[in-house]
Amino acid sequence: MKHLIAGNWKMNGTPASAEALASGLVARAKGAAKADIALCPPAPLLALVGAKISGSVIALGAQDCHADEKGAHTGDTSALLLSEIGCRFVIVGHSERRTDHGETDADVKAKAVAAMKAGLIPIICVGETDQQRERGETSSVIERQVKGSLPDDATSANIVIAYEPVWAIGTGKTATTADIATVHAYIRKIFEDGHGAAAALKILYGGSVKGSNAAAILATAGVTGALVGGASLDLEDFWRIVEACP
Ligand code: 13P
Repeated sequence: MKHLIAGNWKMNGTPASAEALASGLVARAKGAAKADIALCPPAPLLALVGAKISGSVIALGAQDCHADEKGAHTGDTSALLLSEIGCRFVIVGHSERRTDHGETDADVKAKAVAAMKAGLIPIICVGETDQQRERGETSSVIERQVKGSLPDDATSANIVIAYEPVWAIGTGKTATTADIATVHAYIRKIFEDGHGAAAALKILYGGSVKGSNAAAILATAGVTGALVGGASLDLEDFWRIVEACP
C-alpha cells in the first residue's frame, strides 16, 4: 500500500501560482509516483487545479464541505458538488476549522457522513493542543475526537485519518517519531475497536512536515502518509516529501 501525501494549501494561492504548482507536480509525477498524491487547494481554485491534474496520478481534494446536500448555506460547498467537479478527497475537521468556525466532533462527523455519501473519501483530522498535551490529555482528546468524528460505517477503505497535533501546525515543531508512533497506534486501536480491521487504514501525520524531516516521519511505524501545509506550496519541497516515502 502506497503512502498518501496530501497538500493542504489552506487559504493560499492564486490562479497563476496554482497553475504553476499543479503543472510542475504533474510533470514530476509522470505516470507513477512513489506515493499517492492529493492536492487540496482553496475552493475557487479546485476547477483550475482539477483541469491541470486531469489524467495524471494526482488526485483532487477540498478543504471542507457542508453536511447538507444543498440549500440555503451562503458561502458553503456541498460534498456532492465537490464530487461532481472531480474531487476524490475532502479534509474535514481540520483544527483551523474547529477553532475558526467552532466545529465540534458532531459537526465533523456530519460532514464526513456527507462526504462518504457523495463518494468522497473524508480525511478526518484530529489532534491535541499544546495545553492539552501539557496536561497529559493527549490520549483522551484523541479518543474523544476519533470516536466523535468518525461516521459509524467508516472502514479502512472509505476514510483517512490525519493526526495533526495543533502545536505542531505551522510552528516548525514536530512531534517526536516515538510520540507519533504511539498516537498512531492508539488511533488504530480505537478504530479497530469501533470499526473493525485497521491494518489497511491510512493514518497521515501532519504538522510542520518538510522535505528535510519527511523521511524519518514517513518511515515511522503506523504512519501511512502526510498532510502537508506550508511545504505543499513549494514544488521542490513537496516533491522531496513524496520522494521520501518508503
Ligand atoms: P504545516 O505543514 O504548515 O505545519 O500545516 C500542517 C497542516 O495543518 C496540514 O493540514
